Amino acid sequence: MTSDTPADRRGDRERGLLARLRRGRSTPRSRGRRRVGAAFRLFAALLLAGGAYTVFAPGLNAEDTPQLTSAAEDGRALFDVSCVTCHGRNAQGVDGRGPSLIGVGAASVEFQVSTGRMPMARQEAQAPRKPPVFTDEEIRQLGQYIQELGGGPQVPDGDLAAGGDVANGGHLFRVNCSSCHAFSGGGGALSSGKYAPSLNDSTDRQIYAAMLTGPQNMPVFGDNQLTPEQKADIIAYVQESLKTDGDPGGFFNLGRYGPVTEGVAVFLVGMVALIFASLWIAGKS
Ligand code: HEC
Ligand code: HEC
Repeated sequence: MTSDTPADRRGDRERGLLARLRRGRSTPRSRGRRRVGAAFRLFAALLLAGGAYTVFAPGLNAEDTPQLTSAAEDGRALFDVSCVTCHGRNAQGVDGRGPSLIGVGAASVEFQVSTGRMPMARQEAQAPRKPPVFTDEEIRQLGQYIQELGGGPQVPDGDLAAGGDVANGGHLFRVNCSSCHAFSGGGGALSSGKYAPSLNDSTDRQIYAAMLTGPQNMPVFGDNQLTPEQKADIIAYVQESLKTDGDPGGFFNLGRYGPVTEGVAVFLVGMVALIFASLWIAGKS
């Protein structure tokens, strides 16, 4: 069968026409579709960017703080309840109430809160040591919050007195600490109602943190002034020699200056007794 009937030829022509028409129309239509597609993609991208912005922007505006770890978030919750009245929102300080804590570091928080000095009960010349209000875990969280806000010194983990040389520690203590804390570590008065406290209750970490942060009138003993090894020596000396009641001088500790003071005391008392005895004998005869 041939396709040479008029109907078939018409059909061929129509198909050819349709195909041409389709071909002719198909180019502009797909360009239009591409344009619509591009516009849609642009719109979607804008929407995504806007969405991302609205997700992150309110957080940034309201808090004005960088992203915190969960420990620091917990610390901030504690801070906002117990510390914010004196140290202000974001720990920036409140005039006449409490200093800024930006940059004081976790070491300072650990020292202040673990010795019970903070939260301060009322305004006074110097916050006294008292039983701590927070648990170790909470203190770590508070410290983490302040650390992530502004950085600063941190007390290293591990045994801080490890390898400490007690004899060298004693030497370093007499040179660096005894002017305020006394040779015995018993503490002493400073000017204007302030005082250097006794070291009797201080833990290793508290001694380390005190040296690192220099609370109140105490100087900062950074790692340039006293290396971590020298700090270990001092801690070993305070814990093993000052606290264990091994008074080098016997029953009366006489300021724990050691056998020399004992000797001087015995010498003076003995001499006075001998002089009185000889005077008494001379008066009798
Ligand atoms: C009643 C007010 C008050 C409250 C509450 C308070 N503080 Fe303080 N804080 C002070 C004052 C005043 C000082 C400075 C005087 C001082 O060092 O003894 C200070 C000092 C500090 C320091 C030492 C800063 C430095 O320069 O090293 C730290 C750390 C600190 N506070 C943390 C806290 C934390 C954490 C809390 C909450 C658990 C808290 N404080 C609650 C008033 C307060
Ligand atoms: C210029 C005087 C001064 C010198 C020197 C000094 N301190 Fe202090 N120290 C202080 C004062 C003041 C405080 C009390 C700070 C406060 O209450 O906020 C203190 C507190 C401490 C505490 C906390 C005691 C507690 O309550 O548990 C320790 C530990 C300590 N000092 C260790 C040392 C060591 C170790 C040295 C030597 C490396 C030293 N100090 C040198 C003045 C001094």
